[in-house]
Amino acid sequence: MATGKTRREHWGSKIGFILAASGSAIGLGNIWRFPYVTGANGGGAFLFIYLLCVFLIGLPVMLVELSIGRHGKKNPVGAIKKISPDSKWSLVGYLGVITGVGILSYYLVVAGWTLGYFFKSLAYSLNKVHFAQFVSNAPTQSLSFVLFLALTAFVVAGGISDGIEKMTKILMPILFFLMILLIVRSMTLENSMNGLKFFIIPDFSKVSGKTFIYALGQAFFSLSLGMGAMITYGSYIDDKSNLVSSGFYVVFFDTLIAVMAGFIIFPAIGGAPSKSGPGLVFVVLKNIFLKMPMGELVAILFFALLAIAALTSTVSLMEVAVSYLIDEKGFERRKAVFLTSLITLFWGIPSLLSLGAVPSLTKIYKGMGFLDLMDFIFGNISLTLGSLLLCLFIIFVWKFKNAEKELSRGFEKFKNFSILWKISIGILAPLAISIVMIYILITGETLG
Ligand code: TRP
Repeated sequence: MATGKTRREHWGSKIGFILAASGSAIGLGNIWRFPYVTGANGGGAFLFIYLLCVFLIGLPVMLVELSIGRHGKKNPVGAIKKISPDSKWSLVGYLGVITGVGILSYYLVVAGWTLGYFFKSLAYSLNKVHFAQFVSNAPTQSLSFVLFLALTAFVVAGGISDGIEKMTKILMPILFFLMILLIVRSMTLENSMNGLKFFIIPDFSKVSGKTFIYALGQAFFSLSLGMGAMITYGSYIDDKSNLVSSGFYVVFFDTLIAVMAGFIIFPAIGGAPSKSGPGLVFVVLKNIFLKMPMGELVAILFFALLAIAALTSTVSLMEVAVSYLIDEKGFERRKAVFLTSLITLFWGIPSLLSLGAVPSLTKIYKGMGFLDLMDFIFGNISLTLGSLLLCLFIIFVWKFKNAEKELSRGFEKFKNFSILWKISIGILAPLAISIVMIYILITGETLG
């Protein structure tokens, strides 16, 4: 990502921003997290509620973040301070910085698995990998974690960010077509229709308060919302660009990829998954690859592309903390990257040991392991809370008329339907989030 000391740099073009922001949004959240969270929360009914959350709440919150970012032209803390200099609201920015590192700490563990599966495929030994054994092997887990952290740090330090942007332009369409191929394979497996039914036909008897918190949390996680990543990305958009349509494209592509992942995983399971957890996708994908002609070859390509999709996400997670240290604390970029990586490394250790390597970490709260718990606290609750606070910030501090002015720049017609956006940010989103949060606090209902 571009960071100018004197004049803030901008994305080369509108498509440049859409690609970079989609790169942040599309990642393990779509291909690893979405299917297993859907599986654990009842399938079709979850999908339905998830899509409502994405378009009624996620898209409006996306516009909130992009407008604060472009207005402030700074990291989340700085951008909020610009609107409201001497208030406590900048704490929302701090929450974002911490949340970003919190997510990164376990996201890198799963990103490491994609590398591991890539190397296994490369060695033509995918058939010998056993997920539970693979993730309980502390040395290989640590190695792939550190490797992925180093890759991320290298890109964020400025090494090859241009290269990454150019590369994703070519590679992400390949991932897309590969996924179509996998959908075809999966749909032609035995019992695929039962799996498909589980995924798309809602059974509302399975809905509970838990379904809503997971659907909302998944929407924010997948769209990279609630912690200022999109504020940071928005800060690089020039004043002439249309924020509304750019935001819409990102939301659309991200959701498309998640739903496609569902069309791969569930038909291959052939029904409701008996147990849905962080390992689900890796186990199912392995089976699909082993059942297709030249599957090992396809697996090499797929895991490589998935690792790259994960990399464009880890980069955006790290960038928030790094740009904060640079803008607000006067750090030099490389020092900021070093410090952030060091904190991430230590924070990641318990997560990476929580899948079997250290038994006491596999169940530490209500049946959740350490990684699951980090995911619930930072990848769900914290993002949801952050999004709520950003809505309140618009309503009470920045005011709708100012935010609307920012969103109308480069898109005059926004005024015609800005009322919908105001209804969402002013009423729907804060109300829905508050109800779900209060419900969780009262019942303590979680995944476990
Ligand atoms: N959205 C990414 C994914 O789906 C993960 C991610 C990257 C993220 N940046 C974020 C999540 C910022 C929340 C906030 O894999």
